[in-house]
Amino acid sequence: MNELRHLMSPLDLSVEELNALMDTAEKIRSDPERYAHVCDGKILATCFYEPSTRTRLSFESAMLHMGGRTMGFASADSSSAAKGESVADTIRIISCFADICAMRHPKEGAPMVAAAHSTIPVINAGDGGHQHPTQTLTDLMTIRSLKGTLSGMTVGLCGDLKFGRTVHSLIQALLRYENVRFVMISPEELKLPGYIIEELKTKPNAGFAEITKLEEAMPMLDILYMTRVQRERFFNEEDYVRLKDFYILDKKKMRLAKEDMIVLHPLPRVNEIAVEVDQDPRAKYFEQVKYGMYIRMALILMLLRIEI
Ligand code: NCD
Repeated sequence: MNELRHLMSPLDLSVEELNALMDTAEKIRSDPERYAHVCDGKILATCFYEPSTRTRLSFESAMLHMGGRTMGFASADSSSAAKGESVADTIRIISCFADICAMRHPKEGAPMVAAAHSTIPVINAGDGGHQHPTQTLTDLMTIRSLKGTLSGMTVGLCGDLKFGRTVHSLIQALLRYENVRFVMISPEELKLPGYIIEELKTKPNAGFAEITKLEEAMPMLDILYMTRVQRERFFNEEDYVRLKDFYILDKKKMRLAKEDMIVLHPLPRVNEIAVEVDQDPRAKYFEQVKYGMYIRMALILMLLRIEI
């Protein structure tokens, strides 16, 4: 019998598996017709206990583009969680109805609890301020497609590095490639959690610096990954208000960057990228969304063990 696989962290996949996933996603992108019915009869459940537009619809769109169907809920209020049902019980039920489940939850570790009680593959679609592996797959595929490689890059990560789960997953994933340098750009209060710093320190092939001024970092970067200040994870509104506009990427700052630097953002954007930057050919955050759908298609195929 095939072993049941889940995706909780990008490290659940080997570098070879990651590369194979990106290859499949590229094949789907270049010949979507060929994949239009590969999931006929399959059902994806999206269990979202926390708001989302992109991630949930990206999963649903991925399944629909392969002929499968989708079901689920988009907030904790519209599920039995509102009545006090545990994640463990909910996934036991979902396992009877669907073939695969994407779960987002405000509590760190909740999708892991689900995976432990599930008889279908569970994908972590974001757990609190912890991890967001499918955003990382999206980011890796975008970088590989636009830059041709994942090695030898100087990557600037800017904004809320403390609560930004996409940043945590992306660092862990990029650390497995050769010669990646990170420039962490954040206010003092929103620096990376200690456990990620410790991982960075153990990797001799990676360098990192922590700085506060975005202008200082701009000229060195090949990739600038902007993030939103995660309002929902703050303990008080005053701190959020004080920090929310700490960084605003605008045309003036873009003038300091290399001609071929690319700007990424997991979205949603609030104020951290001025709308005027959208016209800059280096702004790739909307293109990034498209890659997200293809890589989720490839992931669903992999976890459902559907081979073409
Ligand atoms: C991110 C998330 O949910 O962590 N969004 C997303 O999935 N595309 C980033 C964010 O919410 O700021």
